[in-house]
Amino acid sequence: MRYGKLHSWELIFVGSLLLPTQSFVSADGSSGQTVILGDVPFFIPPSPVSQFLFGEDAKSRDLLLSVGGDFTGGLVPISVIATNNSMFDDDALDSILEGYKSKDDVWNVSFLAGMYISYSGGARNPSISLLASPKQWGNQLVLRHVSVYLISCTKIRWRFQAFRLYNDEQQSFLYGTVSDGQGGFQQLSAHVDGAATETIAVPSRLYFSPDVDKPLAGKRLAVKDIYDVKDLRTGCGNRAFYNQYQPKNTTAPAIQRLLDGGMVLVGKTKTSQFANGETATDDWVDLHAPYNPRGDGYQDGSSSSTGSGTALAAYEWLDFAVGSDTGGSMRGPAGANGLFGNRPSHGAVSLDDVMPLSPELDTAGIFSRDAKLWAQAGHWWYQGFKSFSKFPSKILFPIDSFGSSFLANPPPAGTAGAIFNAFIVKLETFLNTTRTEINVAGLWNATKPLGVSAPSLRVLLNTTYADLITLDQIQLVADPFIDDYKASHGGRMPFINPTPLVRWGYGRSLPPTRKDEALTNKTIFLDWFGSEIVKGGNKETCSESIFLYPQSSGGTNYRNRYIGPPSTPLGFSTSRIAVHAETPDMVVPGEGTLLVFLER
Ligand SMILES: *[C@@H]1O[C@H](CO)[C@@H](O)[C@H](O)[C@H]1NC(C)=O
Ligand SMILES: *[C@@H]1O[C@H](CO)[C@@H](O)[C@H](O)[C@H]1NC(C)=O
Ligand SMILES: *[C@@H]1O[C@H](CO)[C@@H](O)[C@H](O)[C@H]1NC(C)=O
Ligand SMILES: *[C@@H]1O[C@H](CO)[C@@H](O)[C@H](O)[C@H]1NC(C)=O
Ligand SMILES: *[C@@H]1O[C@H](CO)[C@@H](O)[C@H](O)[C@H]1NC(C)=O
Ligand SMILES: *[C@@H]1O[C@H](CO)[C@@H](O)[C@H](O)[C@H]1NC(C)=O
Ligand SMILES: *[C@@H]1O[C@H](CO)[C@@H](O)[C@H](O)[C@H]1NC(C)=O
Repeated sequence: MRYGKLHSWELIFVGSLLLPTQSFVSADGSSGQTVILGDVPFFIPPSPVSQFLFGEDAKSRDLLLSVGGDFTGGLVPISVIATNNSMFDDDALDSILEGYKSKDDVWNVSFLAGMYISYSGGARNPSISLLASPKQWGNQLVLRHVSVYLISCTKIRWRFQAFRLYNDEQQSFLYGTVSDGQGGFQQLSAHVDGAATETIAVPSRLYFSPDVDKPLAGKRLAVKDIYDVKDLRTGCGNRAFYNQYQPKNTTAPAIQRLLDGGMVLVGKTKTSQFANGETATDDWVDLHAPYNPRGDGYQDGSSSSTGSGTALAAYEWLDFAVGSDTGGSMRGPAGANGLFGNRPSHGAVSLDDVMPLSPELDTAGIFSRDAKLWAQAGHWWYQGFKSFSKFPSKILFPIDSFGSSFLANPPPAGTAGAIFNAFIVKLETFLNTTRTEINVAGLWNATKPLGVSAPSLRVLLNTTYADLITLDQIQLVADPFIDDYKASHGGRMPFINPTPLVRWGYGRSLPPTRKDEALTNKTIFLDWFGSEIVKGGNKETCSESIFLYPQSSGGTNYRNRYIGPPSTPLGFSTSRIAVHAETPDMVVPGEGTLLVFLER
């Protein structure tokens, strides 16, 4: 039994003795309940946070104001207010409630059915004087006659946190989650009305105050459904896979690190199947593709971290969403949905208990709508990196990626090029430098390593990515899954979406020596890029330069367009640089521009 301390700011449901006490102390068999206050749905988790004690254990000067609340049956929503103001009057209450309204989307006037005022000041006889008028809180609160009393110590009540329920209108989530308070998670049992939507529960922001140990306390997090979370199933975008395996007995260390920093997991988001690139809608057979909130709402959200990208772009009530990037699965959705989104240095965070596409290329990224929050999350998440005292002083502008020299031919106003250029000019001012225009393909010709025959990067890296992701995923995911499924389904094949099927088919056609050859080519490129293009090793700035290229030019990509059968991702493009060079690669929204630093 836990006797939790009352935190300074919170809103809670208080349960009376009339409710079956057993279901409060144990989560077994109970999955919480949904209540509607006014017209807003709330979720009450199965387990209370603690007992709510009055009398001996409570401070004798704490006051419970019952304002028309029903304290004899059911649950009563109340606000707990801590104050050291010895004259607690309307003005004091107003300013506290204004703070609640601006800080939190869960607190509502409904939580003034009762008020618990916890006095923490030194005065012997603090006085409460709240005026007898309904005031600006509407008809909800009838403060006509305030009865102030202390509950006797014989009455014990249970204290539940309040979660607000939201509809997943973008269809970004596979399911909502709620903590079981013991390191595991349950699928959220609540459901509010909506067309083909999941329901997500978010806790009040008033419960949390960040500190050095938990700098991200209360930040609401969604996680791509390729990361294992304790007691939940991992589906990887495939329904047969979801059903084949039991709930996981551990949370992936990458996700645990974010939870340890105080983040609150609110749900698992949809991924294109086995994190392979799929185009909305026709490639998405097993799951329906999430909706990109931009434009007319019918643009492709890009993949594979589609659910995380669309959810974070659409929902103000969500703070962060984790995805992964092997060949562009963070950067694509960041560009399409208008978010900050990154691929970190390869190896920046553990990918244990995460479904692999190719361990040599896989990375874990995070989406944010806010650059400062994004930096804060990254600093907490990616450990073992050195800090550097200065920014790089050189900007590289690859003419072959932008299509032309912006210095020789300034892009006309109103074009994507003009927006990129405005961003680059700002960056030039910030770094006190001017860009250096380069031609990457030409530099390869001029500086390629001795003994390497490839006449172009396209030839060197044409199949490298496709070879690695297919050979690795067949061995690590596809074959074990197909074997397990056949063993339990009388030899039948599981359903696989067209895209992974085509890719795995390509992989199965390759000779076994291809993986070593691909890794050799990848290393040739990594070494060349680090010695000839973005040089590392600077003591003050880490990488010598920042490499910019356009990620998305804001073109349309309608989800009702039939695009033809999927194909193997061959070829080379600028977005493959970070994949093979193991550098971080970050999308800056609005500007659509991507930065590459060399950090390792
Ligand atoms: C607060 O609740 C009222 C009804 O109880 C509702 O109309 C209003 O939208 C809610 N406000 C917020 C910010 O949720
Ligand atoms: C109590 O007073 C101190 C000093 O004025 C203030 O810093 C603190 O935030 C107050 N605490 C509460 C709960 O109001
Ligand atoms: C957790 O699951 C893994 C994989 O199914 C299994 O190998 C391991 O024994 C399990 N660990 C525990 C403690 O149950
Ligand atoms: C900017 O760089 C120039 C040299 O390129 C230098 O003279 C000047 O002092 C720098 N300005 C600032 C503010 O650092
Ligand atoms: C690089 O060399 C190849 C093969 O000789 C040639 O086709 C290509 O045009 C060259 N590229 C540049 C940018 O010089
Ligand atoms: C890339 O690989 C494919 C498949 O092997 C091949 O058909 C194509 O000609 C190659 N392209 C280049 C530029 O090497
Ligand atoms: C490796 O590079 C060579 C050219 O140097 C190319 O012919 C070959 O197809 C590449 N193989 C892979 C697997 O990337």
